[in-house]
Amino acid sequence: MKGVILAGGKGTRMLPLTKVTNKHLLPIYNEPMIYYPIRTLAAAGIKDILIIVGGESIGDFLRLLGSGEDFGVNLTYRCQEGAEGIPVALALAREFADGSKVMVVLGDNVMEESLKEDAVKFEKDSSHGAHLFLKEVHDPQRYGVVELKGDKIVAIHEKPANPPSSLCVTGVYMFDSTVFGVIPALKPSKRGEVEIVDVVTHYLSSGRLSWSMLKGYWTDAGTLESWFEANAIVRENSLKNKK
Ligand code: G1P
Repeated sequence: MKGVILAGGKGTRMLPLTKVTNKHLLPIYNEPMIYYPIRTLAAAGIKDILIIVGGESIGDFLRLLGSGEDFGVNLTYRCQEGAEGIPVALALAREFADGSKVMVVLGDNVMEESLKEDAVKFEKDSSHGAHLFLKEVHDPQRYGVVELKGDKIVAIHEKPANPPSSLCVTGVYMFDSTVFGVIPALKPSKRGEVEIVDVVTHYLSSGRLSWSMLKGYWTDAGTLESWFEANAIVRENSLKNKK
């Protein structure tokens, strides 16, 4: 399986911090944000990773991360013009994936645990084309949220005003290569973006979606508050591990 990190976007929710700095280069405690998704993929046993990033900051990423040797991975970079939604960025990974399955991580997702077991399982699994990682959160209206009947997902809603559960869709996904055929058929949502939940819903409708729960801490860092929270969690864990 190959890895893809989506680190484009304008970071408008974090202005003016993101006026001259790509959001994913901001610090989370003692390291740049982009280190965290790279480690998530490396810990899942993935060696070949594509980072998709806006053209104006690609040089900064290259200077910071180079070949990926320090992380034990091989990094490839691809430039994304514009910011038309997560699936549009993911579509740029088609040639890189070259028929392989992919683990996709949104560049502002910070988590603790290794996803290796799930990655190995999904790699072998031909009955599912997509896999979600879910996490219980206190503010589900900020995220993609699953609606459950018993332990079955029946729908996924993007940033619902009245969340049907407190289980959010984290920004880590696994897809088989059919995803690159699904994306071009999708229409933009009301907010003018093609949504990642629509990609996932395609697999849900055809009964080819699997999921698991994250056990350790997880947060994204896409708003000032969640960025602040991510800094606090990582600091706390880092100090705990030093004791
Ligand atoms: C995106 C996805 C959302 C997901 C979240 C996780 O939201 O659209 O479904 O729950 O990432 O980080 P965004 O961070 O772009 O608001």
